Amino acid sequence: MDPSSDDATMQIRSSMDRRLPRIAPPCGLVVFGITGDLARTKLLPAIYDLAHRGLLNPAFALTGFGRREWDREDFEDFVRTSIEQHSRTGFDEGTWKHFASGLRFVSGSFDDTDAYEELAQTVRELDESRGTGGNHAFYLSIPPKWFPVVCQHLANTGLNERQDSEWRRVIIEKPFGHDLESARELSDSVSRVFDEQDVFRIDHYLGKETVQNILAMRFANTMFEPLWNAHYVDHVQITMAEDIGIGTRAGYYDGIGAARDVIQNHLLQLVALTAMEEPINLSPEALRAEKLKVLSAIRLPEDLATSTARGQYQSGWQAGQFVKGYLDEDNIPADSHTETYAALTLHVDTRRWAGVPFYLRTGKRLGKRVTEIAVVFKRASHVPFQHFEMGETGHNVLVIRIQPDEGMTIRFGAKVPATEMQVRDVTMDFGYGHAFTEDSPEAYERLILDALVGSAPLFPDQDEVEASWKILDPVLDFWAQQGPPDQYRPGTWGPESAHQMLARSSRAWRLP
Ligand code: BG6
Repeated sequence: MDPSSDDATMQIRSSMDRRLPRIAPPCGLVVFGITGDLARTKLLPAIYDLAHRGLLNPAFALTGFGRREWDREDFEDFVRTSIEQHSRTGFDEGTWKHFASGLRFVSGSFDDTDAYEELAQTVRELDESRGTGGNHAFYLSIPPKWFPVVCQHLANTGLNERQDSEWRRVIIEKPFGHDLESARELSDSVSRVFDEQDVFRIDHYLGKETVQNILAMRFANTMFEPLWNAHYVDHVQITMAEDIGIGTRAGYYDGIGAARDVIQNHLLQLVALTAMEEPINLSPEALRAEKLKVLSAIRLPEDLATSTARGQYQSGWQAGQFVKGYLDEDNIPADSHTETYAALTLHVDTRRWAGVPFYLRTGKRLGKRVTEIAVVFKRASHVPFQHFEMGETGHNVLVIRIQPDEGMTIRFGAKVPATEMQVRDVTMDFGYGHAFTEDSPEAYERLILDALVGSAPLFPDQDEVEASWKILDPVLDFWAQQGPPDQYRPGTWGPESAHQMLARSSRAWRLP
């Protein structure tokens, strides 16, 4: 490449641009549902952490919209406490002083017309006093039934309208509906008010560094991709396990359950990133197109009774503590059929993945908190030793650990010293904590910054949302016709039916 050429200059410049921190332009962020758990424990700390890292413009303002009858001082106290308790980068008086001067609060319910008038005035005032420049994002951290109402009110007060170079965006939190039909209705109500390019759907798993590393691992290296197909892969296991119960989230969780809560979004996105072809670049269009191809190629096995499993945690001892069963949790109906554990078998009908099952499982009150993708390779087709004793399974495994202990492990067989030829499984480990000195930002820091910068690759679009519901709807319909879910004891790895699901094909879940 001729270094004096325009192309070379462009390439050098764009690779430098990628290393420079991106800083949000002057803008305001309005958070609906500001007093909710998510806002308190994740969103507010993440926004503050961005400010602390110098990634927000000095002309940034944050407005809370909620039902509490708070004045600005009450709101400031609330935000400060949330930051002191949950910020990743630690509380800093200097950062806080400037951050706090851009805080505003609008008190009202989501259908209160006067409150939206006040919001519109606040936004105008911020443009003048803080210099937010007519750029505003509205973050709906609220139950989806309110999306249409809030969007309509934003439209009625002209808050979705912008002048030439300004922008107005909406950021929405899952669940994006509870089935395909409701997801479409929800999307229609949002797209009547905001253009698709201004809608940012948050799936916080895509903001996790290790999830983005799936792309780096697969497409920036040569050694994995040649093996990444049905010739070498026996099956893939994706696990998202939590050791906590539903806590105080009964109102949200009951009737939703594990499959809608995390399989429809987080786990299917992990399948898509694991199984997709190389995108031509990392633009939102290119990335979404490849993920959508995978989601559209997913097929459920015919017999859902043996290829899926669901469960509900019972009461019992977990890590030395007696914990309530799901049905005893506060505000859960005694006859609830909501699953707190779900497992699915999926096939990806492409040449690359023909015949390779993808097993997905998730649950609350399981053995430990861990999210991982395990690519389990086929056994060697021939082993040339006569007196040969094979290790644990004989399968090589590549494990991408999403959390905790973010990193990757490769498991393979090695000769046990001083034996004739005994082979045992050993591991080779890459840990983010050891390999890099840089800290990983929280997923919400990355995603909120991306939304303010207008960078969409890490946000799924409506087609992906619909494709995911198309996969899940038949399973949910099938489960709805069955009796109550199977029971499992806390601290275990789910109901017996989930183990049988794999045992039928002589496979077993990994012990993460
Ligand atoms: C959320 C689910 O999307 O993800 C919760 O609604 C779950 O039920 C949470 O606890 C887990 O997130 P993380 O980042 O801790 O794996």
